[in-house]
Amino acid sequence: MRIDILTLFPGMFDGVLGSSILKRAIDKGFLEVFTHDIRDYSNDRHRRVDDYPFGGGAGMVMMVEPIARCIEHLKGQRNYDAIIMTAPDGEAFNQHKANQLSMFNNIMILCGHYKGIDERVREMFITEEVSIGDYVLSGGELAAMVMTDAIARIIPGVISDGASALSDSFQDNLLSAPVYTRPSDYNGHKVPEVLLSGNDRLISEWRYEQQLSRTRERRPDLLENE
Ligand code: ADE
Repeated sequence: MRIDILTLFPGMFDGVLGSSILKRAIDKGFLEVFTHDIRDYSNDRHRRVDDYPFGGGAGMVMMVEPIARCIEHLKGQRNYDAIIMTAPDGEAFNQHKANQLSMFNNIMILCGHYKGIDERVREMFITEEVSIGDYVLSGGELAAMVMTDAIARIIPGVISDGASALSDSFQDNLLSAPVYTRPSDYNGHKVPEVLLSGNDRLISEWRYEQQLSRTRERRPDLLENE
């Protein structure tokens, strides 16, 4: 899978793409991520990419031309299954959306900024707008990183333990059961007996019960949506 990210701050992605599971996914060839500096597509001698809003008002607006040039350039090289824009007023990003996007071969993510992006970018190019939560970030870069991470880890083969990504919280609309490792007794805080029993059936039943009770307690909305 290939993800092209259009951003004003490509440097923000270095640490995230160079660490942990994302690094592994890229090193193993499961994922390619390319960042594109929108300023490189500005024809302005000061590499300007924003301007004042028509009709007045606070804040700057990202201009259509540099973004359009960058998108057209990429579209000229391959077909894209989705051209996504990050926006606080977009469709909610969740595990279902991550699963869906992970099936694609090529996606583009445009990181929104400033007061907004010239509406014509949305009209002409964007296939979906996605929000990572009901709060406003200073830019779409962190949202693009969140999406890239959530997508990458479920690409088959990325996480070596095949079952691990599938048993994540949210994969079946349930939160995960608690996990423990050695020691079995830490200053009197003991690991639940059943996990030491060696009885696989009892362990799975216990885990499922824990998933249900945690979800009921913490995220009842997940059960209502069933
Ligand atoms: N840009 C600013 N806030 C955002 C959010 N919550 N999700 C996606 N993009 C954003």
